[in-house]
Amino acid sequence: MTQPGEVLYIIVCAAGPAPDVGRLVTLAQDAGWTVQIIATPSALDFIDIAELEKQTGRPVRSQYRKPHEPRSPRADAIIVAPATYNTINKFAQGITDTYALGVLSEAPGLGIPVVILPFVNTALAARAPFQRSIDQLRAEGVRVLLGPGQFEPHPPSSGAERIENYPWSLTLENLPN
Ligand SMILES: Cc1cc2nc3c(=O)[nH]c(=O)nc-3n(C[C@H](O)[C@H](O)[C@H](O)COP(=O)(O)O)c2cc1C
Repeated sequence: MTQPGEVLYIIVCAAGPAPDVGRLVTLAQDAGWTVQIIATPSALDFIDIAELEKQTGRPVRSQYRKPHEPRSPRADAIIVAPATYNTINKFAQGITDTYALGVLSEAPGLGIPVVILPFVNTALAARAPFQRSIDQLRAEGVRVLLGPGQFEPHPPSSGAERIENYPWSLTLENLPN
């Protein structure tokens, strides 16, 4: 159980399980987290923004705030789920062309724990750039839940069958105590 008031950022990318991210919000809130949803711009088409804002009591963020708008509370931990091939590779390369990537880019340097649960098919997961990204992120202390005993990539065109059993709870279990 987390301390009262601790803030969890859930970064949601444009991948198959994204419409169900409310399931992770519920699990996190039950564990005592205050949840801030951050969506990539592409993920906005996958999620029910109004429903998530009702559930979290906070605006879904997908862009940098305007100077007069209030800051989001500082994150105590960050989960990226579902994490796309695109965002994983860009995070590893230090690219910050979305608000979500801007938040992620600073996290290792700020000492904020980051847990990533990818949702990628085997064709993407087999690519050398992706494998380098996973290795580089792990070397920086990011927990990437991919591989035996964690979550395995799915064969191309079979993602829909994996969505129901996407292991949202694994992300919370892998946050440091
Ligand atoms: C219906 C649909 C489903 C997709 N599912 C996935 C997926 O499961 N995993 C993935 O890595 N990309 C998936 N993509 C591709 C990403 O949405 C695309 O690479 C996008 O640029 C990712 O943006 P983001 O990383 O900023 O969220 C999907 C695209 C569509 C249209």
